[in-house]
Amino acid sequence: MRVPYVAANWKMHKTVAETEAFLAELLPKLPDGGPEVVVCPPYPSLARAVELCGDRVAVAAQNMHEEPSGAFTGEVSAPMLVEIGVGAVVLGHSERREHFGESDEALARKLPAALDAGLQPILCVGENEGQRDAGETEAVLTRQLEADLAGLGDDRLGGLVVAYEPIWAIGTGRTATPEQAQETIAVIRAWIAARSSEAGDAVRILYGGSVKPDNAAELISKPDVDGALVGGASLEPSDFLAIVEAA
Ligand code: PGA
Repeated sequence: MRVPYVAANWKMHKTVAETEAFLAELLPKLPDGGPEVVVCPPYPSLARAVELCGDRVAVAAQNMHEEPSGAFTGEVSAPMLVEIGVGAVVLGHSERREHFGESDEALARKLPAALDAGLQPILCVGENEGQRDAGETEAVLTRQLEADLAGLGDDRLGGLVVAYEPIWAIGTGRTATPEQAQETIAVIRAWIAARSSEAGDAVRILYGGSVKPDNAAELISKPDVDGALVGGASLEPSDFLAIVEAA
């Protein structure tokens, strides 16, 4: 049994004050039990979010550098995140791949660095519209998984969270159909299971891309869809809560 997982990817939204206001509204309303809930604020709000969330909600960073320290101006390392109580990190989001040159080679180093430091990685993969239209979705995902997970032994794959995020659905209001999400996530799970059948059963694979309160339940009801990585609809506590409840 995989515990469902719902993460709020705030991207470059919310100041510390806005983070406090969001959590003050969300935390008292969260159901007992239910899915694992994670919020991913920008760096300046991480420490305050950790303080406020306690044990009920995990806090994730949206990126990290693979080295523990060094001459890398502007970067933040995994041990620095762990020191302030951050529990997870989003890696390989398509916005980082597209706008900031995040490479598969860097991801292959970041994933073991995150796990070594004690962070739960949330690895994002997904195809763009042209690739889907050309029937290349499976090839693109396989290429990303092969390259990004090259630095991890088979025994570590089950501890990952993977987010399948079709780029054409991110922030566009166009959601993959529950059938597309199921079919594609099953491909990802099969790829991981081919390396380790235990990991294939254990790894949690989320869908991300215009998840909203009115489509979350159907997406997450699919057998291989273990939860959601939510962008736009995670900025309002009531919308995010509705998605948590749907999971
Ligand atoms: P969206 O973003 O829900 O706004 O489409 C999802 C994401 O980028 O993780």
